[in-house]
Amino acid sequence: MIKTEKNLEEKSKGQIIDHLKQTVLPEEGIIPAYILGDEDVYNLEHEKVFLKTWVFVGHESEIPKKNDFITRELAGYSIIITRSGEDEINAFYNMCTHRGMKLCRADRGNKRTFQCPYHGFNFKNTGECIGVPLQKDIYGEDFDRSNMGLNQVRIESYKGLLFATWNEEAESLDDFLGEFKWYIDLLVGRAEMEVIGEPQRFIVNANWKVGSDNFVGDSYHTMVTHGSIAKLGMVPSATYSKQGYQIYTDNGHGLNLGLPNPVFAFPEELKEEFKSNLTEEQFEILSNMKNMIGNIFPNLSFLISHTEIKGQPISNTSVRMWRPIGVNKMEVTAWMLVEKNAPQEWKDRSRDAFILTFSPSGIFEQDDTEVFTDITLTASGKMPFQKNFKYNYTMGLHREPVDFVGPGVAYGDKFSEANQRNFYKYWLELMTE
Ligand SMILES: [Fe+2]
Repeated sequence: MIKTEKNLEEKSKGQIIDHLKQTVLPEEGIIPAYILGDEDVYNLEHEKVFLKTWVFVGHESEIPKKNDFITRELAGYSIIITRSGEDEINAFYNMCTHRGMKLCRADRGNKRTFQCPYHGFNFKNTGECIGVPLQKDIYGEDFDRSNMGLNQVRIESYKGLLFATWNEEAESLDDFLGEFKWYIDLLVGRAEMEVIGEPQRFIVNANWKVGSDNFVGDSYHTMVTHGSIAKLGMVPSATYSKQGYQIYTDNGHGLNLGLPNPVFAFPEELKEEFKSNLTEEQFEILSNMKNMIGNIFPNLSFLISHTEIKGQPISNTSVRMWRPIGVNKMEVTAWMLVEKNAPQEWKDRSRDAFILTFSPSGIFEQDDTEVFTDITLTASGKMPFQKNFKYNYTMGLHREPVDFVGPGVAYGDKFSEANQRNFYKYWLELMTE
């Protein structure tokens, strides 16, 4: 059960910001528990983080054909993402501009136009209002449809990943991702990628930051939380998760890169495609990659995981979004991605690996969500705020970064909390701006 006890004394915005400045001290490795369970922090976060930054909304391969569309949530507001007849991707607020009815109630489909179910106003998938029932008769000759177009939402793509934002002043997606793109290239730019199946959606009673925190840099938990997987022989040893690099860049992005790997974890047939899409250095990293797990700020986590299925090792690639729907509740959406030009047999095995490990039926996912829920529970209610219960994020504070072939600040193995400190540093910056 989630505690719903609410602070009786409402805090003003200024008070919350001052309190955050005093208690959230990422550079010292101090993070207070209440930021995961406090309703006022949650509301401020909606305004300062989710209405301000770029938020993931889908992958281009989900709307592969002209006139395909999907509907998604952007910071709690429904949007329609369309591919027009001219192959352009647009996004609109899912609201009829006549009386505000939700224009489209389907998750996906293929449509040139959208007709409002209320009065029948009709809109092209590029946003223009193209039809008003009985227009001349009831609105007169001078009625102007041209200012009745759907409300446009900013949407930009990087290597097929679609992000949208409500913030007209936000920097370009390219700038927001910055140096982190080098690693996103390994994830989804290495080859033409496609989402297979419907994205999986499930509810977890946890604050969204627990998910981002876990994926941005917590390889340390693998030994204990996922200890059963080593016992099953699906990964070689319990300290399997330490070897590699922990890397972060600006804007709170970060990842753990598991290296080396004696086996090539990707489809052999596509080596030429990988080489043509990556730099030599990136291809070298890909060839030696055991796994890669990270988070694009705020809430898009990603994973290349390498597991043994029916005696054969294989990788699977996924992105997952921790979409907040309450201070102690999130909807997780997980998209499984695969190299479009890989042999069908490879795609099938990769999918089996994904379903066995992550996804609601996956072993890792079950382990993690148990923990996420209980962390949120201990952070909820009045006491964590009043007593200022704290977490320790000091791991690796004494260490110096190392040289690494890719950009960002890198550490010589994955057991550090530098990435979480970087995540919370940027979060605090936005929250207190
Ligand atoms: Fe985990």
